[in-house]
Amino acid sequence: MSERGTFYITTPIYYPSDKLHIGHTYCTVATDTIARYKRMCGYDVMFLTGTDEHGQKIEEKAKEAGVTPQEFVDRIVEGEGGILDLWKLMNISNDRFIRTTDGYHVEAVQRIFKKMYDNGDIYKGKYSGMYCTPCESFWTESQLVDGKCPDCGREVKYAEEEAYFFRLSKYAEPVRELLLSGTFLEPASRVNEMIKNFIDPGLEDLCVSRTSFKWGIPVDFDPGHVVYVWVDALFNYMTALGYMNGERDGLEKYWPADVHMVGKEIVRFHSIIWPAMLMSVGEPLPKKVFGHGWLLLGGGKMSKSKGNVVDPYILAGRFGVDALRYFLMREFPLGSDGNFSNELLISRINSDLANDYGNLLSRTVAMVEKYFNGTLPTERAGADSDCELNTMAGELRGKYEKLMDSFQTQAALEEVFKVISRANKYIDETAPWVLAKDAANTPRLASVMYNLLETLRICTQLLTPFMPESTVKAADQIGVPAQLRTWEAAGNWGSLPADVTVHRGDTLFPRIDMDKELAELEKLEEEARREALPPVELEPQLAEKVDFDTFCKSDFRVVKVKSCEAVKKSDKLLKFTLDDGTGVDRQILSGIHKWYQPEELVGKTLVAIVNLPPRKMMGLESNGMLISAVHKEKGEEVLHLIMVDDSIPAGAKLC
Ligand code: MSP
Repeated sequence: MSERGTFYITTPIYYPSDKLHIGHTYCTVATDTIARYKRMCGYDVMFLTGTDEHGQKIEEKAKEAGVTPQEFVDRIVEGEGGILDLWKLMNISNDRFIRTTDGYHVEAVQRIFKKMYDNGDIYKGKYSGMYCTPCESFWTESQLVDGKCPDCGREVKYAEEEAYFFRLSKYAEPVRELLLSGTFLEPASRVNEMIKNFIDPGLEDLCVSRTSFKWGIPVDFDPGHVVYVWVDALFNYMTALGYMNGERDGLEKYWPADVHMVGKEIVRFHSIIWPAMLMSVGEPLPKKVFGHGWLLLGGGKMSKSKGNVVDPYILAGRFGVDALRYFLMREFPLGSDGNFSNELLISRINSDLANDYGNLLSRTVAMVEKYFNGTLPTERAGADSDCELNTMAGELRGKYEKLMDSFQTQAALEEVFKVISRANKYIDETAPWVLAKDAANTPRLASVMYNLLETLRICTQLLTPFMPESTVKAADQIGVPAQLRTWEAAGNWGSLPADVTVHRGDTLFPRIDMDKELAELEKLEEEARREALPPVELEPQLAEKVDFDTFCKSDFRVVKVKSCEAVKKSDKLLKFTLDDGTGVDRQILSGIHKWYQPEELVGKTLVAIVNLPPRKMMGLESNGMLISAVHKEKGEEVLHLIMVDDSIPAGAKLC
């Protein structure tokens, strides 16, 4: 075992329901950075990540794709461009990877479930509530939106289902104490949230089995029930170390975990349900749960269904993995939300990596080559530690350590870059090109170069957890001997040999042309979005020609929706009252309720054909027809009303 002890850190295990996006990458890069930092400090680190493969959503997605759930998850986890590939690309240094479909995990979860059942913490009861049949989900009254399913907006009905429950209520007080004690949950602001929103209103027992779908771990003593996916998922942190199974090891060495890194929306599961279940099985609790914020896009959460995800493959391909990793850790404080944009990413790379760090490195190495043929002479004038720079670089490791230990990765990077900026200023102050003009200044010039190389060495070492590859290249250019590429040496100013030899190399972070790059990215992202859309089935075009005069007989007009309501007793029809520019309201009935809610259409500017003969539907008269575009996806018709610019007046004729 290492002198510093062990350090067990985990990411959440990801749902392999879609390709992962930059938000997931953020979570994993943050965890990887901390894991690498701890390894650098000398800890014996266990870093676990994996995939959470069960549940109704995966079952449905597999059905849609026409494959078995196992085939479906295998493709997203192990297939080309899948989760394993993404972590490889992003240089994620996890020691283990768990899949919840792994046999040892499945068996262990069955044993754990039985253990909680035997000790009386799991009991059989009835699950009741408002049920949405198409979504196969139960909702509480307060979760409903206007009395309807919050997911799909459809009617719900009261239903009951036999299920197992976990006595979460029994653990409310011990969990409250845990949350209030010490630093179990960070950032501290999340503690209040948990207590106010979940503990104070009263913890209810948790439904921990389902019978409405099959893709889960079967309750072995009651076939037909599958274990609730969060019970299955949370125990991954222990089964991956051999808990309740003989296939993995490390439990004694690494458990309890030092930190579970999780996104803010799953803090509740990790800081309430997880400790309660551990109390139930009598196992030690993790030392910390850290709830990080979200990466947002245009102020909202990224989601595949909203079509607003950012693809890490594209960004890493354009800017390099290290630049992307650096940006993610530098731009946003870990505990808060942050708004992602390509502009921010490019300006951060340009300012910090190309200008400040990259430039300092290439200028310094170029000067040592130019003035000393690459190797510093040992004769010096003045002390090697004659300025503020030396003090700042010498004190850097201490400041950095404090910040990294409290997961303030952004602030730690800020400290490193303060020193880098100071070094760039030091070049301007000492003007080496002036010193180089007079041979008498050679010892002083060597001193200045040494100070710069030493500063670069220390900063580069402290940047390694963030940019594991570029920092090796930078250390090669600086000429840092292998034995000095350590945490210890990062705390010792003056470690670099006096006669150090530099090696000029490629530019590590080329400057990016913002406008050109933004245009290129937009193109690539658009292509990716298009590729991700489900294949569209189109009606064949009509071969029969229509003469122009016949076409002109159809009177298409722009109309504005004054009001819109559902027609009683019809689940298809909407009744529109329209302004068609004549000053007299026009009524049109349209069978589009499946695709639109009436309230969302009020005020919209649409197109209608207005000279069709009147037609009666459900006893109401319809005078014309609204124009829509239709296509099919997966055999299902999809309809889009044609909406035009609101500046076009009602009654304008289409020609
Ligand atoms: N499977 C559960 C976790 C079980 S852990 C026992 C899950 N999976 S997830 O794939 O939906 O999310 C995994 C992690 O990615 C979560 O921590 C989540 O917060 C994080 N992120 C997903 N989108 C994100 C952003 N846009 N920004 C930051 N993190 C994001 O939840």
